Amino acid sequence: MYPLNRNRRLRSCSAIRDLVRETELSNNDFIVPLFVVEGKNIKKEILSMPDYYQWSLDLLEQEVKELWKIGLKAVLVFAKIDDALKDNKGTEALNKDGLMQRAIKTIKNSIPEMLVMTDVALDPYSSFGHDGIVENYKILNDSTINVLSEMAISHANAGANFVAPSDMMDGRVLKIREALEAQGFLDTGIMSYSIKYSSSFYGPFRNALDSTPGFGDKKTYQMDYGNRKESINEALKDIEEGADIIIIKPGITYLDIISLLSQEVNTPIAVYQVSGEYSMLKSAAAKGFLDYDKVMMEELFAFKRAGANMIVTYHAKNAVNLLNKSL
Ligand code: PBG
Repeated sequence: MYPLNRNRRLRSCSAIRDLVRETELSNNDFIVPLFVVEGKNIKKEILSMPDYYQWSLDLLEQEVKELWKIGLKAVLVFAKIDDALKDNKGTEALNKDGLMQRAIKTIKNSIPEMLVMTDVALDPYSSFGHDGIVENYKILNDSTINVLSEMAISHANAGANFVAPSDMMDGRVLKIREALEAQGFLDTGIMSYSIKYSSSFYGPFRNALDSTPGFGDKKTYQMDYGNRKESINEALKDIEEGADIIIIKPGITYLDIISLLSQEVNTPIAVYQVSGEYSMLKSAAAKGFLDYDKVMMEELFAFKRAGANMIVTYHAKNAVNLLNKSL
């Protein structure tokens, strides 16, 4: 009862605020998305994602060393595939000397301890820009998951520690887990995009990978943002099928889902703060409307507070540099 209880006492100086703080953020919390391209000496800024780059493999090596040095220990790799190599079967996705497979090796050669996670989905390889094989304007589930499981094996063969299926086909986690087991990849993990909403926040990413769907949208496989309980079904199903980590995506507009699932499941939860979220803050900050560092930190804390165990974010390097500076 006031004045015996004054809530402001615990906010009266930074030392006491630090003592009572319920959530912490550190370099251990982050996974860094990396975009790789063919070529040499390329560090190309992505038009729709200011200050974020596509890397050729020669320069990637250096970047990975830099990430490791500042304390970032996990990367999630996406490959930008030349148009000429795209088809409706994901042929290039299975090329053992493909860009993704070489990128995995490059990172492992550069820093063997770096945790390499890879995107498993057909959209960067698809002439239709869809996450699966297309027939009569439909995205086929079962033939797609066969290709995805071969893709996962190909990544594991190249040295990936975790594969991250982002396609939202049904049953793909089980198919991938069985294939990995059968091939002896017992320690290769699956970080499944279990709860992936059909979101317009992916726009800048599709520009980065040139993977905008050629027809229609992704609503027949990605989730309807009007739904909440469905996320429990998706999570439980993937966990049962063998997912080691589940992803919720996008981030800031889905804090309720993170909070819900952190109570429903015991499997580690990653949140993916997606390209549109990154670009919104970057462009508002460039105009001077928002303070980049402060808004970024507020958002990252919100993910942890909601219950996420780890954060995939394009802000990772900036955030860790800022955290390191304040030590
Ligand atoms: C594709 C994939 C997407 C993202 C990650 N994997 C885009 C999509 O589903 O269209 C989005 C990431 C981002 O926006 O940052 N399988």
